[in-house]
Amino acid sequence: MSADVIRPKKGLEGVVFDESKISKAMPDKKSLMYRGYWVHELAETCCFEEIAYLLWHGELPTQAQLDELSQAERSQRAISPALTEAIRLFPKTAHPMDAIRTGVSFLGMEDENAWDNDRQSNERKALSLMAKIPTIIAYDYRIKNGKEPIAPKSDLTFSENFFNMCFGEVPDKEVVKAFDVSLILYAEHGFNASTFTARVVASTLSEMYAAVTAAIGSLKGPLHGGANEQVMHMLKEIGSAENAKAWMLDALQNKKKVMGFGHRLYRIGDSRVPTMSKYRDRLAEITGNKSWVEMSHILEETMVAEKGIHPNLDFPAGPAYYMMGFDIEMFTPIFVMARVTGWSAHVMEQLENNRLVRPLSDYKGPGPRSPQPIAQRG
Ligand code: COA
Repeated sequence: MSADVIRPKKGLEGVVFDESKISKAMPDKKSLMYRGYWVHELAETCCFEEIAYLLWHGELPTQAQLDELSQAERSQRAISPALTEAIRLFPKTAHPMDAIRTGVSFLGMEDENAWDNDRQSNERKALSLMAKIPTIIAYDYRIKNGKEPIAPKSDLTFSENFFNMCFGEVPDKEVVKAFDVSLILYAEHGFNASTFTARVVASTLSEMYAAVTAAIGSLKGPLHGGANEQVMHMLKEIGSAENAKAWMLDALQNKKKVMGFGHRLYRIGDSRVPTMSKYRDRLAEITGNKSWVEMSHILEETMVAEKGIHPNLDFPAGPAYYMMGFDIEMFTPIFVMARVTGWSAHVMEQLENNRLVRPLSDYKGPGPRSPQPIAQRG
């Protein structure tokens, strides 16, 4: 390789890939900004629809702008009979992340103008994906559970409508707010693995549906979005607060990776955890089931004391979703519902000043050598 080749750390740790105006993580301050606003303040003062507008347009919406976005989003929630039929044909054993990945790809095939890559067309696709992804997730959930899908309702907010499509009712306002907060916290996080995936796809001048489909594939891994599901499996395995400390000590002694802890950026704590933990703890009060929270507090204390490794957002989000009534395998699809706003903002930003992403590999294989005719190979 020539001398001017750059060899970054494995996993591209510490590499700045490109400029972005969408969000900024500040690990030394344990904080995160979307478009210059503190995320913990956005979570308390805004609804998820306002965050979608902010990520796409760079400013918080006025009431008129929010009304326009909400009306458009509500009017596009329905999915086609063909896609509904396809969902009915999905294998019952398929993970919902695979269902949503296939569903988004299907939406791309249905959109005759999927290839239009101008800003206005991409804003249209972003809104359509935001509106339809919850419907695909809820339909898949109900069909897999032997129930008929519940059509989206345009008189409900984004979060209220998702609860209604899953369970046929809208829960208490505080529960809906906790869900909305989780979506706001999950919406965007710089050049994480799935967003980077989306930007790489966009850089080839492919289209939005392809970028989002690829990003979903990336998010599903347990080192990324899939961790929120693994956290809940872990809490269920531990079973009670009395077992929590011994379980953690044993896991650490056996050098296990404990899901929901650690972060490539946040070595002293994840900026989003205090807000989500507050809402998780409130859900425990509302539901009257404090065991997940008691267990979580002990696990966190033990991990921080033993290793100095702090929880990430998936740690409080997992049990929060469980207490809201969602099946564990719905947790990462819910992350998709939120993060599609960030992915689509990044696809649009990539296209504003695009250059094909095409790194090098450092070849360590054999050769050079010449192939033998097959009869002479031993
Ligand atoms: N449990 C136990 N030890 C952990 C850990 C965890 N969750 N996360 C990091 N560590 C330890 C590593 O074993 C390593 O220790 P060592 O130096 O003695 O080998 C050290 O901390 C550095 O970890 P490393 O894996 O190199 O960090 P990374 O930046 O590559 O990984 C994650 C970051 C997120 C992939 C990693 O922390 C992890 O696997 N966490 C669990 C999965 C998870 O919650 N993912 C969601 C992320 S938002």
